[in-house]
Amino acid sequence: KDFDLVIRNGTIVTSSDIFSGDIGIKRGEIKELGRNLSERAEDVYDAKGKYIFPGGIDAHTHLDMPFGGTFSSDDFNTGTKAAAIGGTTTIVDFAVQPQGKTLNETIEMWREKADGNACIDYGLHLAITQMNDKTREEIPQVIRDGYSSFKVFMIYEGMMVDDLTFMEVLDIASENNGLISVHAENPFVIDYFTKKLLESGKTAPKYHEISRPAYCEGEATNRAISLAKMTNAPLYVVHCSCEESASEIKKAREEGFPIMGETCPQYLLLSRDNYEEEGFNGAKYVMSPPLRDKKNWNYLWKALNDGVLQTVATDHCPFFMKQKRMGLDDFTKIPNGAPGIELRMALMYSYGVDKGNISIEKFVQLTSTNVAKIFGLYPKKGSIVVGGDADLMIFDPEKKVKISKDILHENVDYTPYEELELKGYPVATFSRGELIAEDGEYIGSENRGEFIKRSGPKII
Ligand code: URP
Ligand code: ZN
Ligand code: ZN
Ligand code: ZN
Repeated sequence: KDFDLVIRNGTIVTSSDIFSGDIGIKRGEIKELGRNLSERAEDVYDAKGKYIFPGGIDAHTHLDMPFGGTFSSDDFNTGTKAAAIGGTTTIVDFAVQPQGKTLNETIEMWREKADGNACIDYGLHLAITQMNDKTREEIPQVIRDGYSSFKVFMIYEGMMVDDLTFMEVLDIASENNGLISVHAENPFVIDYFTKKLLESGKTAPKYHEISRPAYCEGEATNRAISLAKMTNAPLYVVHCSCEESASEIKKAREEGFPIMGETCPQYLLLSRDNYEEEGFNGAKYVMSPPLRDKKNWNYLWKALNDGVLQTVATDHCPFFMKQKRMGLDDFTKIPNGAPGIELRMALMYSYGVDKGNISIEKFVQLTSTNVAKIFGLYPKKGSIVVGGDADLMIFDPEKKVKISKDILHENVDYTPYEELELKGYPVATFSRGELIAEDGEYIGSENRGEFIKRSGPKII
């Protein structure tokens, strides 16, 4: 037979086209797109009435990550299963360089967490936390080894770098065709306001947001972009939460600089009002940057539509409420982060496409194609093309779901999206031609995910 599998009768959606037809798959790759391919297949999956999208690519996850004396609660096994059920077929996670460790030692640590555990394909970004002769020497080598993107944190003790180190990372990595991403907030601003708040007894979760206003992110984004301009480096700003940061990207792009940016569903759908939830529940939303005023939602949707921001990732970094309670008497001790890996595709479809905020092609661009291009995965991943991996999400646009943590598979005891209503939900996920999730359950083989060496960025 010509194909191991044919997915027939679906409505195939790419970043630029919609057409109905069959997908012929052999050895994990798409071999043919056409009509009436079923007779030439060992196996047939009927996708009548469903959309077939390129599998989601989430380029911002934190699985099994040390933070504030604890670890994010999804590891590479549980996190990638939840991702698969939600229609995501590739993640790029952050390997964070511990103080005193080399980049190669960092890679070894994170490969140990991921290899033989992940159930979908994965790449790793390297978060550089210190610059020395060894780091300088390693950057070109790790890029050649397929770790083609880096991150710098401008905040967090033990992870943050100063402008000097940031500039050197930008300079060396870009010279070697690497891409640098940045978590942009100003740590001095946060320290200043935090001290004042704690001194006046303001310790509740909601003060997390008050300690880091939107300008704190805007200023750092401006500074990061300025450093990129001066080193002729491209830059990707992660988790833009507000107009103050996204407008800096807009301005730089209008001037012709290769600056790109990401936002996340939480910044499009949730707001600072969530911190008012009773008791300690505001801690569920303690993440950095924090949830902002609702007025930012429109700005961010427009930024996605106008190409100012090119991607939507989750920043999935879950902690159980028990872990969050480390900060019961002091919001600065609440581990930062929230879950989201399983719901990104459904949220972006329902609140993006179904509600008319984005087109269906834009949905594919933001969740898959653009991500693949920017992070060196394209065209093997991020599209539905002959020769590409058969990474596919089968999606029922009519399926109605009310979100509750009980239907999710993330290893955590809440979801920030509780009770939101969805129209449209993934019903099956294929990774390299293997049916790995169906109707809300992971059914693939265990630990089948493969590490992906990535090439340099495509600036879009
Ligand atoms: O609060 C967050 N976002 N935690 C994860 C680490 C980061 O800053 O991305
Ligand atoms: Zn961050
Ligand atoms: Zn993050
Ligand atoms: Zn289940």
